[in-house]
Amino acid sequence: MPELRQAELDSGRAWARAQDERDPLRALRARFALPRGADGRELIYLCGHSLGPAPIDARAMIEAEIADWERLGVLGHEQARLPWIGYAEQLQPPLAELCGAERQEVVAMNSLSGNLHLLLASFYRPTGERRALLIEAGAFSSDRHVVAAQIAWHGLDPATELIELAPRPGEDWLRADDIERQIATLGPRLALVLWPGVQYRSGQAFDLGRIVRAAHAAGARAGFDLAHAIGNVPLALHDHDADFAAWCSYKYLNGGPGAVGGAFVHRRHFADAAIPRLAGWWGHDPGTRFEMRPEFDPAAGAAGWAISNPPIFSTAPLRASLPLFIEAGMPALRRKSVALTTYLESLIRQLAADELAVITPADPAQRGCQLSLRIRAGAHRGRAVFDALRRDGVVCDWREPDVIRLAPAPLYNGFEDVLSAASRLSEIVHA
Ligand SMILES: Cc1ncc(COP(=O)(O)O)c(C=O)c1O
Repeated sequence: MPELRQAELDSGRAWARAQDERDPLRALRARFALPRGADGRELIYLCGHSLGPAPIDARAMIEAEIADWERLGVLGHEQARLPWIGYAEQLQPPLAELCGAERQEVVAMNSLSGNLHLLLASFYRPTGERRALLIEAGAFSSDRHVVAAQIAWHGLDPATELIELAPRPGEDWLRADDIERQIATLGPRLALVLWPGVQYRSGQAFDLGRIVRAAHAAGARAGFDLAHAIGNVPLALHDHDADFAAWCSYKYLNGGPGAVGGAFVHRRHFADAAIPRLAGWWGHDPGTRFEMRPEFDPAAGAAGWAISNPPIFSTAPLRASLPLFIEAGMPALRRKSVALTTYLESLIRQLAADELAVITPADPAQRGCQLSLRIRAGAHRGRAVFDALRRDGVVCDWREPDVIRLAPAPLYNGFEDVLSAASRLSEIVHA
């Protein structure tokens, strides 16, 4: 049993602490409320891929809006400290930075699945023989429901028009060449590629530029689900010429449960009147919105895809969280993220390779901060290991059928968290 001896673990801990001490981003941890167990001890929070912890300032942001609501009622739309009418627009600059987009190309609105529906209504336009929609096999359930529903909405059959690309037999993730080949093979049949930035179960990060180039070369459009990518890996949606993207904000963006999501639409689509949209008044030009005319005159940019006035209380926490990304800078966060995840992977290999397989790609360019683990003894034992890990104070999650996901996030995790999680995992699998 390849267990790290106590002396090695102690020196490992000294090393991890030294790394944390010299980490230029270490002060950011104190800007988050990290959950504690029943015994009052801080839990090891490695679950930002599911729900990011609360930024300390989130409470003040929400309370400020409640205070303005109490003080002003309806007048808050114009007179709140940050008038509610223009509230969502305040998030455009940091979101644009995180997406690698122009400010006008992003909008904070709705939730992820709803935004995917809205964007597919505009960008999945099956015509003639060009009707197929390509996704990855094993896509997140909601994404699959969305695309199947969209295909059916057009009176088409998902059994023939929804193409799902699986990894090769015995492999856990997709090869970029295979994605390109599949796109080229579909060629004139292909209307749209909808792809994740980072796959939710395996943690694989994709080269979005390559996917866009292949889709465009085939005459199709390319859109992305960035649920697990935004705030996790660097993005360059504008330069990569992506057609559209959507995300949720409760994972790495730490916007809180059900936080307002977001969308990207590339500038080159702004003036295309042939693209239909499921319009609502919040997507109308704000200059004339309140004239309440029957004709729809879209706002410039991605904001023209908005439908409803923004949910202020589920937008407010992002005003606490997004500035932290800007303060730290995505390049520095990414550097730390790569170091933390590399460390986690090396510890797992050292401590528990006999029991655990890492199914996330080893190449840092092909993953974000998440590592997905499979217990070699099978799903039943895997579930028991996961339950024990949670009981032991490591907050991570389980994805059916057999995957444990752990994600050290550079905003609030450190090397000692990683060491503690890995050594607890090793104790559990070897107990
Ligand atoms: C990849 C992916 N797609 C879709 C969703 C659904 O998000 P929402 O409930 O915000 O629509 C999630 C949520 O975790 C997700 O991870």
